[in-house]
Amino acid sequence: MSDPAPAKRLFIKTYGCQMNVYDSERMADVLSPLGYAITDTPEGADLVVLNTCHIREKATEKVYSELGKLKEMRDERLADGGSRMTIAVAGCVAQAEGEEIMRRQPAVDLVVGPQAYHQLPELIARTHRARGERLSADFAPEEKFDALAPAGRRATGVTAFLTVQEGCDKFCTFCVVPYTRGGEWSRSPETIEAEARELAAQGVREVTLLGQNVNAYAGEGGLAALVRRLARIPGLDRIRYTTSHPCDMDDSLIAAHAEVEALMPYLHLPVQSGSDRILKAMNRSHTAQSYIRLIEKIRTARPDIALSGDFIVGFPGERDSDFEATLSLVREVGYAAAFSFKYSRRPGTPASAMPGQVDEAVKTERLARLNGVLDEQARSFNTSQIGRVLPVLFERPGRNPGQLIGRSPYLQAVHATAPDHLIGQIVSLRIESAARMSLAGELISEDLVSA
Ligand code: SAH
Ligand code: SF4
Ligand code: F3S
Repeated sequence: MSDPAPAKRLFIKTYGCQMNVYDSERMADVLSPLGYAITDTPEGADLVVLNTCHIREKATEKVYSELGKLKEMRDERLADGGSRMTIAVAGCVAQAEGEEIMRRQPAVDLVVGPQAYHQLPELIARTHRARGERLSADFAPEEKFDALAPAGRRATGVTAFLTVQEGCDKFCTFCVVPYTRGGEWSRSPETIEAEARELAAQGVREVTLLGQNVNAYAGEGGLAALVRRLARIPGLDRIRYTTSHPCDMDDSLIAAHAEVEALMPYLHLPVQSGSDRILKAMNRSHTAQSYIRLIEKIRTARPDIALSGDFIVGFPGERDSDFEATLSLVREVGYAAAFSFKYSRRPGTPASAMPGQVDEAVKTERLARLNGVLDEQARSFNTSQIGRVLPVLFERPGRNPGQLIGRSPYLQAVHATAPDHLIGQIVSLRIESAARMSLAGELISEDLVSA
């Protein structure tokens, strides 16, 4: 018997949002039939893919510094008589900057946008034949998802991301996403269900439905109908979704939070600012009051829901009084978790040309104050769980021997001493202590909780 062909090694580094995490997994899926197996370092890799993010300047700059390091590694290996490493740039920087990447860093062999990675096998073959066409960055999500068969999906754990919607038509004035991901587009409920069933058959217990505007999902009946449909799949006990826009949070979705047991009580609903003047300049199409009223409605339907949000400080024209309005909105809402950013000027977006750009020092100071309040809220939300018994889905071994880590319904990381065979099971834990980022629990029995 002859030895099988040696596997080619594929290293993928993922930046940015969960949609990129999903895309990276699907890239690995499309490359696996070509003999590529994932490795977790770039050293020795035959193919390195950087799946990039363009959202803030820092994110983009990281990519170029990583490319510099990869070029050195590639050149050293060649000088030592080793094999040639192929370097590919995928994701949102690929879409936004395209050929400029190859000009700035000639070591890059190919560039593939977020709607074109199903063409990776072909692009790689062409690169290897040293023929041109190293760039593919068309917007055609329907072609991509047609090319990615649900049956080709490989689960990598007991939780999984599942992209159901792509792109954004909202054009917030600070944001590059409508330019890097194109307009809103939704997959059909049938293909989503097929992929979810495939995942469940491989032992996945929890899916997070993804979209840049996931609650704008336009399949029949919207996101609420999709959630109800997926909740019927045996074995799929937990459903989450992210990211949502306040103006697409309709009554049917709110009702699903009250009625669908599998829909977890956690909602990421970015508000960005608490000042109506700034929200208007951001083109957010909601006010601070309309957002707060929406939160009240959601809490009436699901009183224990944990809320999270995104905030930008130092948007052009933001005065102290605007920033104070953000702090007061945060105090009124009460967040369980949050992500806050200094405004980053993105070329080509309307806000980058607005007058009143805010000093870096002012942004730094505001961010620190906002984070102070948000951290305090996260800590107090976590502390409020002490003494409660929560169903936790164990995902993987913890840092210490004998420990497992999982998630509560509210997306908190929870660790506990527990045997390995409970990975993939939902068990009851009594919460013993809390930190800002995680909880510690104690297994009260090995009886499984069904949801
Ligand atoms: N579709 C989502 C998330 C988009 S990007 C939404 O509508 O909220 C994730 C977060 O990055 C945004 O919510 C925003 O808070 C932040 N962000 C986007 N562009 C930014 C910029 N130019 N500067 C700083 N933060 C930004
Ligand atoms: Fe960006 Fe706004 Fe679209 Fe979110 S809704 S992706 S912040 S343009
Ligand atoms: Fe970044 Fe693109 Fe996601 S810009 S946040 S990777 S959609």
